[in-house]
Amino acid sequence: MNKKLSIAIDGPAGAGKTTQAKALAKALGYVYVDTGAMYRALAVYMQDEELKDVPEILPEVNLQSTWDEKGNQRMSINGVDVTDRLRTPEISRLASDISAIPEVRDFLLETQREIARENNVVMEGRDIGTVILPDATLKVFLTASLDERAWRRSRQLEPGTYLLPSVKKDIERRDRNDSSRDAAPLAQAEDAILVDCTHMNIKETTQAVLRLWDEALARKAD
Ligand code: DC
Repeated sequence: MNKKLSIAIDGPAGAGKTTQAKALAKALGYVYVDTGAMYRALAVYMQDEELKDVPEILPEVNLQSTWDEKGNQRMSINGVDVTDRLRTPEISRLASDISAIPEVRDFLLETQREIARENNVVMEGRDIGTVILPDATLKVFLTASLDERAWRRSRQLEPGTYLLPSVKKDIERRDRNDSSRDAAPLAQAEDAILVDCTHMNIKETTQAVLRLWDEALARKAD
């Protein structure tokens, strides 16, 4: 079987996983997979339908990831494109809450593995190196200081709507949630390489990971 290549990027909220995964996928010509967007799309659906019990509705949910010509991932749920509604603090909170539910994780696990079986991928999330792709060609645990992550995240939000202290509190709560749950908590895989990008800009971080990628490929060829 022609085994596909994969980079797994895990790490806490606001570390730059999405930016890096996109840049790496573009540089390598791989498919960029944002698994958080899948949890977020489910959260939008829950909110719209005013649903409380997630496992109950999963059999009726048709979650679809597609990629536009620029490689950006779009999410639709039961035929409705929700991509532009995924990145609000409310949806971040709800996505983190529902991601602790084992049935939700099981529901998404196969979808995510299937994409990696069929494509070379740069996949980012919280449990990619530990659970989804235990045999990933390269595993990176991307992190940065809490202050830096809060600052980066606040700049992505609508100007003037969310103040830095509240963004920081949200991120802290989410990290706690994501790391302390029983089901596939956020954790660095034993064989993942820690990249702390607190003092690195976007380009420097991409280049650092590309160097790790070259090393991983050289190890694989040995
Ligand atoms: O990466 P993100 O901020 O878009 O993810 C939103 C939430 O989804 C995050 O707080 C935890 C959850 N998540 C997860 O549990 N496992 C993943 N692989 C990706 C995201």
